[in-house]
Amino acid sequence: MEESARESAGELRRLVARELHDRVAQTLTGMLVDLENFKTEPVGWDDVKKQLDTVQDSTREVLKSLRELLHDLRGEEAVSDTFVDAVGDLVARFEQRTTIKANFDVLPGWPKYLTTPASVNLYRIIEEALTNVRRHSGARAVSIVLQPYLDDYMAVIVGDDGRGVDTDESWLAGMGTLGMKERAVILGGELRIESHTGDGTTVRAIFPKEQLMPKPGTDQ
Ligand SMILES: Nc1ncnc2c1ncn2[C@@H]1O[C@H](COP(=O)(O)OP(=O)(O)OP(=O)(O)O)[C@@H](O)[C@H]1O
Ligand SMILES: [Mg+2]
Repeated sequence: MEESARESAGELRRLVARELHDRVAQTLTGMLVDLENFKTEPVGWDDVKKQLDTVQDSTREVLKSLRELLHDLRGEEAVSDTFVDAVGDLVARFEQRTTIKANFDVLPGWPKYLTTPASVNLYRIIEEALTNVRRHSGARAVSIVLQPYLDDYMAVIVGDDGRGVDTDESWLAGMGTLGMKERAVILGGELRIESHTGDGTTVRAIFPKEQLMPKPGTDQ
């Protein structure tokens, strides 16, 4: 757990470093070189105006990159700070974009705080399950439930009333399914897709409680 928390923090740092390098530092360096060259040239007012236009364009480009980067960072943070709210927003957006009725239930006993990797991975699992409902199910309704399970487990369940698919051995899982399963394994859990043609589809993931909750006295 601590290992994977460290890994995802490391991944995030690498992402930010890469983006700052490619999209911000490179553009600013280019601007500096251009301005330096420009200073040494004897030019008229028209040239100055042209150069100012170029500097303006480059500044806009850097700002746009920074905004995108901040947006990406906030996206991850929003998920880790208030997981239930983030899922609530996701479900609300899903309902706005589809004609499928979505019901979101958080049952008593679901932890108030989750670790950052738990929040991010559970959020992505629910997001992919809902994407599949929208793309493949033809469902009229979907239900998303977060609940305690037995004494030491937590369950995330996304079930629809759509056309379903026979999930026997011949069933071919796509990248979406593999990704959901991988994320469940990262959290020490297990994810199953239960479905039969004509009888809806249910994604059911179970996790040991201790894998999702921050250890007392830490912020992870
Ligand atoms: N809720 C659902 N209702 C009906 N069929 C589904 C549902 N979810 C998945 N499926 C079926 O299972 C297949 C595999 O889903 P999976 O998410 O793994 O891949 P995908 O959605 O086809 O592609 P992607 O890699 O973009 O997610 C789908 O192509 C679809 O046939
Ligand atoms: Mg999919």
